[in-house]
Amino acid sequence: MGYAGNETPQFIIPTTIATRETSAGSTISKSSGQNFSNLSSKRGIEDLDFFIGDEALLNSKTYQNSWPIKHGQVENWDLMEKYHQACLFQYLRCEPEDHFFLLTEPPLNAPENREFTAEIFFESFGVKGLYIAVQAVLALAASWTHKESQRTLTGTVIDSGDGVTHVIPVAEGYVIGSSIKHIPIAGRDLTYFVQQLLRERENSIPPEDSLEVAKKIKEMYSYVCPDIVKEFKKYESEGDKWFKRHEFIHSVTQKPYTIDVGFERFLGPEIFFNPEIASSEFLTPLPDVVDGVIQSCPIDTRRGLYKNIVLSGGSTMFKDFSRKLQKELKKTVDARVRMSETISQQNMDTMAQIRSKEVEVKVLSHKRQRYAVWYGGSLLADTVNI
Ligand SMILES: Nc1ncnc2c1ncn2[C@@H]1O[C@H](COP(=O)(O)OP(=O)(O)OP(=O)(O)O)[C@@H](O)[C@H]1O
Ligand SMILES: [Mg+2]
Repeated sequence: MGYAGNETPQFIIPTTIATRETSAGSTISKSSGQNFSNLSSKRGIEDLDFFIGDEALLNSKTYQNSWPIKHGQVENWDLMEKYHQACLFQYLRCEPEDHFFLLTEPPLNAPENREFTAEIFFESFGVKGLYIAVQAVLALAASWTHKESQRTLTGTVIDSGDGVTHVIPVAEGYVIGSSIKHIPIAGRDLTYFVQQLLRERENSIPPEDSLEVAKKIKEMYSYVCPDIVKEFKKYESEGDKWFKRHEFIHSVTQKPYTIDVGFERFLGPEIFFNPEIASSEFLTPLPDVVDGVIQSCPIDTRRGLYKNIVLSGGSTMFKDFSRKLQKELKKTVDARVRMSETISQQNMDTMAQIRSKEVEVKVLSHKRQRYAVWYGGSLLADTVNI
């Protein structure tokens, strides 16, 4: 969260809350919306003895920790309201009556999430105004900072965070919901894979630190290579140039230790392009998923969707990620165009040559990609004249 017009968020906090209560408020499921009316009667007697985010995690021994959002669905509205309350008063330190708020939601969000959230913001906090934007649309807006951007709200957003990667087609600001695809490969899977590779090669990493070490190595040293076989050869012939050394501090003994960082540098992010190297469950490479998503969209939107593929989220930050995605996708698209030309020529009586118009494939990588949704929101909110 943060204020419109800024380039980066002011606070990034996990959606967790630590409270004193033993029964952590009432759980409201989609079918028992009537519980919600209890909320307003409770207002006014709110106790302030709770923590949110990292502070909640630090106090988890003496307080009860809850995660009010599960799989993108708010499960506990009492706690969610407390969470928002701390965000506004303790972190942003704002007077909600004086501000307009922009919140974001994932595509295909349940309407209840939106309605209850609006109720909390208007009725409990008395905000001046509220807009709930779809994250993918904001990610598209964030890419306008790129010099080659077409500044349109038509494009395909690839959002890859820690738990999941989404491919979301957007046409003129509207998400094409039926074509969205989720891929079960994201940052956490890359971290586990790097951890496994390091375990096989490096024996100086203390087991209790190995996940943190893997995450750090992934974030600091990884990149996407054009060809794994050639890349392996480079490490073999010019090891000094490609292997890196990094010093870590043992979390328990505080003693420093050094490890070599090698093949995991390019093998980690490779699982987007060759998933079979890490798992046998999901085997479709990311470029093929993107192609499938665009092909399932209405035909008149497809060119616009191939032409403006926009990246968002931490796990799209690898060097040359956009380059490889663009190259592989272009290969698939061109192969299909050639094939359809051949088929239509075989079916023609005349000798006329049929050439389809080239399909432009462009994957944009830009400076605001890490927090693209937040930045897009900041940009949009800042342009509104109220
Ligand atoms: N520079 C970087 N290079 C590679 N990966 C990174 C980098 N910075 C962060 N990450 C990874 O990005 C992930 C977090 O990204 P992000 O903040 O977009 O996720 P999230 O929105 O919290 O998760 P999700 O969207 O799955 O709910 C983590 O796995 C983190 O290790
Ligand atoms: Mg995310």
